[in-house]
Amino acid sequence: MVEIVGLAGSLRRGSFNRFLLRAACELAPDGTRIEAASIGEIPLYDGDLEAEQGLPPAVAALKERIAGAAGLLLVTPEYNNSLPGAFKNAIDWLSRPPQDLPRVFGGLPVGVIGATPGAGGTALAQVAWLPVLRTLGTSPWFGGRLQVSAAHRLFAADGSLTDEETRARLRRYLDGFAAFVAARGSQSGA
Ligand code: FNR
Repeated sequence: MVEIVGLAGSLRRGSFNRFLLRAACELAPDGTRIEAASIGEIPLYDGDLEAEQGLPPAVAALKERIAGAAGLLLVTPEYNNSLPGAFKNAIDWLSRPPQDLPRVFGGLPVGVIGATPGAGGTALAQVAWLPVLRTLGTSPWFGGRLQVSAAHRLFAADGSLTDEETRARLRRYLDGFAAFVAARGSQSGA
């Protein structure tokens, strides 16, 4: 089984990106499991806290989940034409200490998708992740795109993704990303 950790970059209960991640977990292709993890317990990065106490438990636990996974799926909101601070903060913590970067993120297949009520489909947020992913040493997947616009029209009140066309686009994206993750895993002997 190919294991992928999914992270949504919004803390909001009614977050479209959390709903999109939930749909991704449901629609993962056969042989792949996408498990949602949370950034909700991660404090603001503080170098003094790190120096005095090390990584907060929520960061250490999430780091090990990512280190043990074959891939990472980021489901990103877009704030002010860029990525949301809370999401970047979580990744910043996860990148500490830098000596662990190769073990946790080195060569890790990463997919980035996102949803917004706006028209741009989080395209600018997705691009804003690229220098971060490069710095971490990951292997971003560029074989597909999923930029979900008008998200407020696509989900039911219970958060399920009801729009058939978006479900089909998400399924296509996940098929491609899962194949990339599986291929990278077999190359690295994982
Ligand atoms: C936004 N929103 C937004 N949307 C967008 O498409 N482009 C943008 O640049 C911004 N900028 C922005 C800034 C800030 C501070 C907020 C709070 C919101 C709207 C955003 O897409 C919307 O609130 C989404 O619902 C956020 O994602 P979740 O929480 O639904 O996952």
